[in-house]
Amino acid sequence: MSPDVSARLINFGAGPGKLPEVVLVEAQGALLNVNNSGVGILEMSHRSAPFDAIQQDAKNRIKSLIGFPDDKFEVLFMQGGGTLQFSAIPMNLLRKDSDSADYIITGNWSRQAFKEAKRLGYNVNAVEMVRRSDDGILSVMDLKDVKAAICPTARYIYYCDNETVDGIEFPSSSFLQDNLGLHSSTVFVSDMSSNFLSRPINLSKFSLIFATAQKNIGPAGVTVVIIRKDLFVESPKEELPLMLDYRVAVKNDSVYNTPPVFSIYVTGLVVKWIEAQFGTLESVDAFSKQKSNLIYQTIDGSNGLLVNTIPTIFRSRMNVIMQVKESGSEEALLQEAKQNGMIQLKGHRSVGGIRCSLYNAVTMEEARAFQSLLEKFLADLSS
Ligand SMILES: Cc1ncc(COP(=O)(O)O)c(C=O)c1O
Repeated sequence: MSPDVSARLINFGAGPGKLPEVVLVEAQGALLNVNNSGVGILEMSHRSAPFDAIQQDAKNRIKSLIGFPDDKFEVLFMQGGGTLQFSAIPMNLLRKDSDSADYIITGNWSRQAFKEAKRLGYNVNAVEMVRRSDDGILSVMDLKDVKAAICPTARYIYYCDNETVDGIEFPSSSFLQDNLGLHSSTVFVSDMSSNFLSRPINLSKFSLIFATAQKNIGPAGVTVVIIRKDLFVESPKEELPLMLDYRVAVKNDSVYNTPPVFSIYVTGLVVKWIEAQFGTLESVDAFSKQKSNLIYQTIDGSNGLLVNTIPTIFRSRMNVIMQVKESGSEEALLQEAKQNGMIQLKGHRSVGGIRCSLYNAVTMEEARAFQSLLEKFLADLSS
């Protein structure tokens, strides 16, 4: 029985998020016969030539879209989601007896990463960059104070480029590198799970980037890791589980064990779609700014009925969050959205409110539809 595609709802989910329909249709066919190989993608050996071609294609497309400055960087496909990277990063990069690392905390996910490194017994320091006052107003610490809080001998500085839960995004992917005034050899590690491939990345400013796929670039099950290979020249870490060891992943070209073949395949299709749809990451950026601005304009013009206190330059293009001032109205808004075919707008359970995620596959028309719904809702509230 073929699915009723016209009955698809408008999906503003924060992850797994919406994927482009053309990709889903192609993936549907690939379940039976991928790339005319005579075998479905779920049945194909991960050591076969056709799968190797699929994986290399996905990797090369990511490289060419970002523009790799040299062959010092590698793209890995790993498992365990973003959360396993919270463990893998300190376990690969830090020695417990002598090293420390700084975590710049801007919201839920950078805090989770910090907590995991600490739980594992590493010497990590939290730099609280975002503060919330008693009346809920957010303020972002001055960069000179961030710099002062950073330990000059930290092995790496960790940050989350886009905080999915809190709706906070750095103004550009290398904002800290460009503005903190630290030495150019400083090791920066960035979680780009929820804004990967939505704007340009100047890779020469990074040592490690990771992105769990299910937000902007594919299905759950694969995490893209981009690493500078010379980070790992030091002595081998025998205690590190093989599946967490970046050197094992590099040496085995991400197929030390059976990789998530379907997720890698679909991720490759999404990257191909981004190339065809937008051409460059600059265009994706312009598109996502336009989409999110529609919603922010409505919030700012709502006479305080919709509230987002994030300083403008740190407002996320990917996850627009808001509180509705009138008590009980959030549920009414969610209901109205549902009646109009719009789903997954409820804020994360830890912060409540409304969250509208505008990943790459969400169209301008869909963003406009939510904006119109908000405008109507506001008009009804004030009448
Ligand atoms: C920014 C960010 N980092 C990490 C994670 C954790 O990813 P996973 O659920 O794949 O472990 C998420 C999940 O929502 C996220 O949004």
